[in-house]
Amino acid sequence: AQQWRGVIREYAHRLDVTETTPIVTLGEGGTPLVEATHLSARIDARVLVKFEGMNPTGSFKDRGMTMAVTKAVEQGAKAIACASTGNTSASAAAYAAHAGITAAVLVPDGKIAMGKLAQSVVHGARLLQVQGNFDDCLEITKELSEHYPVHLVNSVNDDRIEGQKTAAFEIVDVLGDAPDIHCIPVGNAGNITAYWRGYTEAARHGDTTRTPRMLGFQALGAAPIVRGEVVREPDTVATAIRIGNPASWEQALAVRDESRGGFWAIDDERILAAQRLLAREEGIFVEPASAISLAGLLERHAAGEIPKGCTVVLTVTGHGLKDAQWGLRLDDGSDASPQVVRAETSEVASLLGLA
Ligand code: F0G
Repeated sequence: AQQWRGVIREYAHRLDVTETTPIVTLGEGGTPLVEATHLSARIDARVLVKFEGMNPTGSFKDRGMTMAVTKAVEQGAKAIACASTGNTSASAAAYAAHAGITAAVLVPDGKIAMGKLAQSVVHGARLLQVQGNFDDCLEITKELSEHYPVHLVNSVNDDRIEGQKTAAFEIVDVLGDAPDIHCIPVGNAGNITAYWRGYTEAARHGDTTRTPRMLGFQALGAAPIVRGEVVREPDTVATAIRIGNPASWEQALAVRDESRGGFWAIDDERILAAQRLLAREEGIFVEPASAISLAGLLERHAAGEIPKGCTVVLTVTGHGLKDAQWGLRLDDGSDASPQVVRAETSEVASLLGLA
């Protein structure tokens, strides 16, 4: 059997590539759309989880990065640059390594998950921890790309959005139509923009009979779109979406209006509770920023906003192993300290309640 060929080859007819485009791929995309039976029963609807942590570097960023790095190489770039809360930098580092070019990545000092930092280092990126937040990093990176020979691969680069729209195509291919509702975390708002582009293109080509309502969720301490103003000091445990001035703000508002959707803010405790729920009830371990899709869905359901029997897709954007410390946290907020036992079968059996 032929293996999945990555999003550019699988969806070449919907992307700006030619026979001679030098495709840079790690086999991204083709991620599972998991039927979430327990969550479905809980809210009386059909819930499916698009598990983007299953991409090569553990997040949805790989869909956009394959396209951005491919186009950069096609244009002769020798170096790419990005600002990041951790996942974009991990992805840029890996794809640059694969392409044999340099990646320069700027991240907020001390505010990205350990796994993500390790990824940038292991792939050999030029990593700088900036004394500032993500928004500062993005400003500097944009200026760098204007004045120096580096190719910007943040989602303000439309090639990123083009690559990321393929996630919507995959969902449509599996379901045979678009879902009624799509829940998604929002940081810079690049991904919600990309999904909406994917769904509207699919509808235009006659692949679907409808487009979904797009429900976007921001962390309470980093919710500029919800509040309608820039947040100067964004703060949340969901470091991936710790963003106070989203690059695709206007596009996000257009998605809200065109899809009859909306944006809501979710507090950190609900985000972490949803992370544990998804892990325990469905076997899917995601990072905190990703769990906001579920926390948001539960909140909208409690508000009576989710019609019975409708189809809901949750995008969970990054793997839980990226930020594993949260996995050790118990419901009461304390850290798990797994029991230690002597190497004796009878004692193990008794502690497990088997004897
Ligand atoms: N979820 C995760 C795990 C992310 O890493 C990001 C963004 C988002 C959601 C939000 O997506 O920005 O398109 O609205 N992470 C960027 C980064 C900012 O640098 O890795 P968005």
